[in-house]
Amino acid sequence: MTVRRLLPSDAEQFQSVRLCGLQECPSAFASSHEEEVGTPLEVVAQRLAHKPDGAIFGWFAGPALRGVVGVQREGMSKLAHKAYIWGMYVAPDARRSGVGQELLVHALAYARDELGVRQVNLGVNTQNAAAISLYRRVGFEVYGTEREFLLVDGVLHDEHHMVCQVRSAT
Ligand SMILES: CC(C)(COP(=O)(O)OP(=O)(O)OC[C@H]1O[C@@H](n2cnc3c(N)ncnc32)[C@H](O)[C@@H]1OP(=O)(O)O)[C@@H](O)C(=O)NCCC(=O)NCCS
Repeated sequence: MTVRRLLPSDAEQFQSVRLCGLQECPSAFASSHEEEVGTPLEVVAQRLAHKPDGAIFGWFAGPALRGVVGVQREGMSKLAHKAYIWGMYVAPDARRSGVGQELLVHALAYARDELGVRQVNLGVNTQNAAAISLYRRVGFEVYGTEREFLLVDGVLHDEHHMVCQVRSAT
């Protein structure tokens, strides 16, 4: 079992896991299965190419990708001291064995040590107790709640905004 940064050669597995997540948990992600199912593998591979401002990490059981998380620095210069977590997903048969936590620990260390940011933000559906519990466990706290953030199949969902300080103020 290993956690590593994903590469363009992981595109097929990443796309498969990502689409499973979008299909299984439509109210956990802002994107949708319909919007991503047609994405060509070359485009997915480009997203996995090495970039200085973000990365996608994968958790592997042998050669099989079972969990993923993205971390991305904010694009504008005045926001560049911040990064955000996106696309956190662990396959159902790999859950509750520490995979999500291990992925987040890697993502936060990368954000602090390689991106050099001060804080990492994320958004999570207020009904997603598993994810909220996981995020709290690695150091995130809720700093705000947005009502009616997501509209999925006619149902509105509220979103917690969470932050983790990865570098203390100097
Ligand atoms: C949320 C998710 C990523 C958790 O992944 P995981 O690998 O099962 O999490 P871990 O095993 O690392 O759990 C670490 C801690 O998080 C908390 N946790 C995880 N799943 C939980 C659950 N179902 N209920 C309550 N707490 C939970 C616990 O504190 C757990 O520690 P413990 O097992 O010692 O009690 C996974 O359930 C998932 O992919 N869900 C669907 C997609 C999703 O909701 N993504 C988040 C989008 S914001």
